[in-house]
Amino acid sequence: MDSPFSIKSEDIVTSADTSSILRISAKTIARLTEDQKHVKWHKMVGHTTFTESRNLANMIPCERLYLKFEGNNPTGTQKDRIALAISEVAKKESYVGITSASCGNFGAALSYAANYFKIPETHIYIPKDYHLPKSRVNMMEQNNAQIHYVDGTYEDAVFYSSLMARENNWFDANPGAPGLLEISLEAYAHIAIEIFRSLRRAPDYVLCPVGNGTTLAGIYFGFKLLYEANKTTSVPRMIATSTRCGNPIIKSFKSKRREIRDLSPDEIKETRANEPLTNWHSFDGQVTLDALNESNGFAEEVSDTKMVESARLLKSEEGLNVHPASASTLAALSNLTKNNVILKGSYVAVLTGRDM
Ligand SMILES: Cc1ncc(COP(=O)(O)O)c(C=O)c1O
Repeated sequence: MDSPFSIKSEDIVTSADTSSILRISAKTIARLTEDQKHVKWHKMVGHTTFTESRNLANMIPCERLYLKFEGNNPTGTQKDRIALAISEVAKKESYVGITSASCGNFGAALSYAANYFKIPETHIYIPKDYHLPKSRVNMMEQNNAQIHYVDGTYEDAVFYSSLMARENNWFDANPGAPGLLEISLEAYAHIAIEIFRSLRRAPDYVLCPVGNGTTLAGIYFGFKLLYEANKTTSVPRMIATSTRCGNPIIKSFKSKRREIRDLSPDEIKETRANEPLTNWHSFDGQVTLDALNESNGFAEEVSDTKMVESARLLKSEEGLNVHPASASTLAALSNLTKNNVILKGSYVAVLTGRDM
């Protein structure tokens, strides 16, 4: 597959093969850490708000807390970063259709990106029982996507979407499809590069919500690139946050597994608040688990109630309108404090999207 970047499959090795999750070429480092002014769509995405929290940092309490707010990407989430990178590949390879499953956010991002690249057909597969806000459906329709509601779970929707990609010769933009991990890690690595540009160093900890895990793995990949390029002297400890209602990355980490293990489909419970995070199979679960282990990080699960409460606090204390999934980072951080003892070090919470 012809990636818009120069990363190759050989650059990425999972821990099943080696102790290091990512082997990175010097060329990749040099190019990714430079400004990519020549890529036109890079101006449309990223460069998102980065701010230091005072009010919530005092409430938690935490020595230094920074908020990286992905909600000001074009369709409101970090997914715009990968959707544009993936759609560019599909366009270059002359596909006339592109497809993915989604809980709503990736569907909105992919429809927007495919429309930007003038890919004639976009097909989004959504589990019929999901609680999609009307604004999400409108956004997909305005960008000429065809929405297909399917029986079953998110994983079933991925299965149908991939099957239809094969039958119709559409580009398969589902996580786990061939070549997708390379493109996604590079696109999300820019979140780390932007954090580094704002802070001029690597933070001690990065908290990131996980569903399939791709975002966290990409951010870790970005920090590794910076470290290998001697731009930073350390790599942050990655903290995966997710819902208590079921996520294999959290469960596998907590049960000290080195190899990701699927949950059983009846172990998960999808709700309005947790849909981007809960699944029985995390498509990029292994590389994410590797990132947690390699960075000496950890995983925290929180209740829906805590996520919703933390989203409310982010609005009242910091003026940020975030999706409850994003607020799992803050909910997890407050779980780490005991007896009001201040959390030492610098923490970045990646707020993956705005509330729609
Ligand atoms: C707002 C939001 N946050 C976090 C995630 C989880 O991202 P990932 O699947 O890369 O772990 C998603 C996934 O859809 C999302 O929409």
